[in-house]
Amino acid sequence: MEGFAGKVAVVTGAGSGIGQALAIELGRSGAHVAISDVDTEGLAVTEKRLKDIGVHVKSDRLDVTEREAFLLYADAVAEHFGKVNQIYNNAGIAFTGDIEVSQFKDIERVMDVDYWGVVNGTKAFLPHLISSGDGHVVNVSSVFGLFAVPGQAAYNSAKFAVRGFTEALRQEMALAGHPVKVSCVHPGGIKTAIARNATAAEGLDPGELAKAFDAKLASTTPEKAAEVILDGVRKNKARILIGRDAKMFEIVIRAFGPHYQSLFPKVVSRLVGPSR
Ligand SMILES: NC(=O)c1ccc[n+]([C@@H]2O[C@H](COP(=O)([O-])OP(=O)(O)OC[C@H]3O[C@@H](n4cnc5c(N)ncnc54)[C@H](O)[C@@H]3O)[C@@H](O)[C@H]2O)c1
Repeated sequence: MEGFAGKVAVVTGAGSGIGQALAIELGRSGAHVAISDVDTEGLAVTEKRLKDIGVHVKSDRLDVTEREAFLLYADAVAEHFGKVNQIYNNAGIAFTGDIEVSQFKDIERVMDVDYWGVVNGTKAFLPHLISSGDGHVVNVSSVFGLFAVPGQAAYNSAKFAVRGFTEALRQEMALAGHPVKVSCVHPGGIKTAIARNATAAEGLDPGELAKAFDAKLASTTPEKAAEVILDGVRKNKARILIGRDAKMFEIVIRAFGPHYQSLFPKVVSRLVGPSR
């Protein structure tokens, strides 16, 4: 893929799923890659696969919720490679549970990883991206950043917040005349470990929810997702939709506006939420 040769790209949550596929696709496209994750085993697999294809890779354990560590990490990556061009704020977790039965800590945890992780990564790397003269911030939201469904309030909140943050940043970079492009990614169902790694409110069986996700919702491979993301980055798209499901949902939301809220609950909650 053109446009990535010689670029330095940072991918969080690179030990599994979309992050792993992104790191490998970036490496194949000629980028130097800084990968990180809390899952050091998964990260080692990604590192080996990158080294096997001759990619210059820096691999570190990083928890995206640890702001001070993230700031130090950004400086270390810039020093290691001499510049940083792109950050893919991809690390994320999922949680299922109605608001009524979710604990504050469950909602806070999702916000910490899925929203504050993105803010930490963006703020830590922004000065380096600006000084590279050719930067790109790529923040991973979700289709659940476009519409809300029952049982996903924590995840919906974090992913809507990522969209707001990212869309504001894109406009700010343009207004300031900074050489930094900004894209927000909205995947539909991707065949990754996200649901298997997810937690759920008391009374719900995360194993059953994961089975339902894997069987009914996950339709796009992580490799295809990575390809679509890099194509969107190359075209400097503001919004990158992944999968036919994501494109279809976006059209429905545009057509129905807020009325989707009376349309979705029966259909979508049967698929993704607690059984009712
Ligand atoms: N799979 C889907 O259907 C789907 C749909 C929409 C959005 N997304 C988003 O895509 C992104 C990637 O998810 P995935 O589907 O590849 O899931 P995944 O579970 O396969 O990968 C997520 C990775 O993030 C890492 N991670 C979790 N918490 C972390 C933390 N605090 N610090 C650093 N790393 C952490 C995990 O260890 C894991 O390796 C997430 O932001 C997710 O919300 C996924």
